[in-house]
Amino acid sequence: MPPKTILIADDEESHRLMLRAHLEGEGFEIVEASDGQDAVAKVKERIFDLALMDIRMPIIDGMESLRRIKEVNPTIPVIMMTAYGSIDSAVKALQSGAEDYLTKPLDMDELIIKVKKAIRYRQLEEENILYRERLGIRFDFSNIIGKSPKMLELFETLSMVAPTEATVLLLGESGTGKEIIANAIHQNSPRRERPYVKVNCAALPETLLESELFGHEKGAFTGAIDKKKGRFERADGGTIFLDEIGEMSFPTQTKILRVLQERDFEPVGGTKTIKVDVRIIAATNKNLEEEVRQGRFREDLYYRINVVPITIPPLRDRKEDIPLLAEHFLRIYSGKNRRVIKGFEPKVMGAFIHYSWPGNVREIENIVERTVIMSKGDIITLDDLPPAIAGAQQDEGRTPFPTSLRDVERATIVMTLHQTGGNRTRAAAILGITRKTLQNKIKEYGIDS
Ligand SMILES: Nc1ncnc2c1ncn2[C@@H]1O[C@H](COP(=O)(O)OP(=O)(O)OP(=O)(O)O)[C@@H](O)[C@H]1O
Ligand SMILES: [Mg+2]
Repeated sequence: MPPKTILIADDEESHRLMLRAHLEGEGFEIVEASDGQDAVAKVKERIFDLALMDIRMPIIDGMESLRRIKEVNPTIPVIMMTAYGSIDSAVKALQSGAEDYLTKPLDMDELIIKVKKAIRYRQLEEENILYRERLGIRFDFSNIIGKSPKMLELFETLSMVAPTEATVLLLGESGTGKEIIANAIHQNSPRRERPYVKVNCAALPETLLESELFGHEKGAFTGAIDKKKGRFERADGGTIFLDEIGEMSFPTQTKILRVLQERDFEPVGGTKTIKVDVRIIAATNKNLEEEVRQGRFREDLYYRINVVPITIPPLRDRKEDIPLLAEHFLRIYSGKNRRVIKGFEPKVMGAFIHYSWPGNVREIENIVERTVIMSKGDIITLDDLPPAIAGAQQDEGRTPFPTSLRDVERATIVMTLHQTGGNRTRAAAILGITRKTLQNKIKEYGIDS
């Protein structure tokens, strides 16, 4: 394979040389641009696999260059280099389509990791497009917002699984998007023209669940005035979504198991066996393995539904998606409420990024909807936010008590790395440990770098 080519745009020659040396050492081919205008001109001339760009440059700055480069080549991954501590410009860069950002002073390990990651993802994306075109499959996950590496990986899995008949188990905290993803799987499957039937296993009372699922004969129980088709039967040829499957009672689990094994069942009070052709998608925010261990969930059913488990990461583990989601919901809710709102002040985005979103995407959706309705001006300001979220900006680094020693250690490392702009050598010096020890702890705690 020919070497990957990287465009380095930085006005300081010494920076360019240092970056060139490190990246060439990793086998990349380098082209340099000494300012933004030069960078845009070079992108017009040839195809790059990635651009690494300083935000502060003469003539046209990095942000404007980023916009122009994306106009010329929308798919080129761009990593911006920002001054340490300017979270605002990092956020703006991500909003304007940058893949990622690095804070100065640059940590060369981090640089190499991010560069390789961005190039690998772009390559996967391209392979995926080719593959779909060859098969004539058009995937559309455009209503699911996200471009963090974790979400790109998820889209990758979804496009592999959606067109199959495989039973899918969606796992994830409340509000992470299990339902919207279940829907997308059906919409991107050959069954898309057939019924999509949802069953909320937690919302239906136990007494009704069975007849809801399997239907009942006339007079099967008090109140069964007419014969009724169950949801499995209505989903015939299509997909059934068993939401909150972890809440199902043991007896119902037994019945479901049979449908999954035999694809047939008998309506309540009926004797005739009905055969159905359904694809199953199940979801839960419970740890099913633990439920099995506790004897609350049938092990055999667990193995039946755990064919393709897909875990949707919580929002705090994919903070890059926060600005995108906030803008997405702002567009939706300002439209719905007929309000002209231009955007969020940078401090709001800063608070959003630092807040931990225990309610995940649903929580950010609700907050944005509420602030759109309540805000006075045409820009959402920090004052428009609930205190818990507005305060997140200052809360950084503070650890909640009581807490374990491990948590304190992890938080201290994260905070120190943040303060040194990701520079591990300096962080290790501040923490009074060797760089090697720090590296081990970063790995141990799974701290994102
Ligand atoms: N990636 C996303 N892009 C756009 N909207 C999203 C995304 N993820 C979730 N949402 C929206 O957030 C809300 C919550 O998502 P959803 O209902 O799918 O979550 P859930 O995982 O099923 O939650 P619960 O476990 O509480 O049922 C919905 O309005 C959904 O449309
Ligand atoms: Mg749900």
